[in-house]
Amino acid sequence: MSELTLKAPNYGNWVGSKFIYIPGIMGLAFLGLAFFFPALVVLAGLFLLLAAYFIYARYLFAPQGENVQGQIRGLLLEHLNWDGAGQALDIGCGNAPLTIELAKKYPRAAFIGIDCWSKGWDYSQSACERNARAEGVDQRVTFHQASASNLPFPDESFDLVVSNLVFHMVADTADKRTVLREALRVVKKDGVFAFQDLFLVEQMYGQMDDLLETMRTWGISQVEFIETRKASFIPAALKLPFMAGTIGMLVGKK
Ligand SMILES: C[S@@+](CC[C@H](N)C(=O)[O-])C[C@H]1O[C@@H](n2cnc3c(N)ncnc32)[C@H](O)[C@@H]1O
Repeated sequence: MSELTLKAPNYGNWVGSKFIYIPGIMGLAFLGLAFFFPALVVLAGLFLLLAAYFIYARYLFAPQGENVQGQIRGLLLEHLNWDGAGQALDIGCGNAPLTIELAKKYPRAAFIGIDCWSKGWDYSQSACERNARAEGVDQRVTFHQASASNLPFPDESFDLVVSNLVFHMVADTADKRTVLREALRVVKKDGVFAFQDLFLVEQMYGQMDDLLETMRTWGISQVEFIETRKASFIPAALKLPFMAGTIGMLVGKK
């Protein structure tokens, strides 16, 4: 494909279309049934309200809207203390916005993006490859299907490992600390990492102080926790616990 025919990159939205059409269809169905059972109008209202909330949240996250998604990624890039030499891994890359931003920022490095690309998301390996070509970094970036719970790489393979809002989604591992440990396993000694996730959900990660202490026992020499949720660019409507209200970042060095 020539450069002129390359499509603009499509990085998708963290509020997938299913979050809108499922409650939307349910709401309309209950509204129809409310002609026969008037009490169902309450359920119809709740589902339609939910669909409306997700439409608004999708707008807030979108690059064409308030670009909260881009700003959350930007915060991760801002806190990264890396010299840009060697091999990097992006775990759960989605449509690869972070992988590609990193590849543009660090022209000496090579990048791998992995994702399971499950059906629930509007993301795919072919979209990642198209985006990398459209952004002119495809020579240094490759993508593979794999799970964050069992990374197909030997211990200490990467100079940099990043992940943005993925660990909490890993369905086959109930204990999200195990997913974090798996990500840290593939960081080289003296390599750096930056992980953003819902680290303030205690049911997943426990107390933050305890998590930081545990990471030190795993051989992590430096680690800092940054509360992304407090960033001024996150609007009140996104501060719900399973949206951006519990997001934080673990940044450090092995
Ligand atoms: C909120 S999206 C974030 C995508 C990307 N990191 C970004 O910043 O746009 C969550 C991603 O986690 C991926 N994911 C979910 N479970 C996974 C697993 N077990 N292994 C790898 N990726 C997974 C999904 O496919 C999706 O791409």
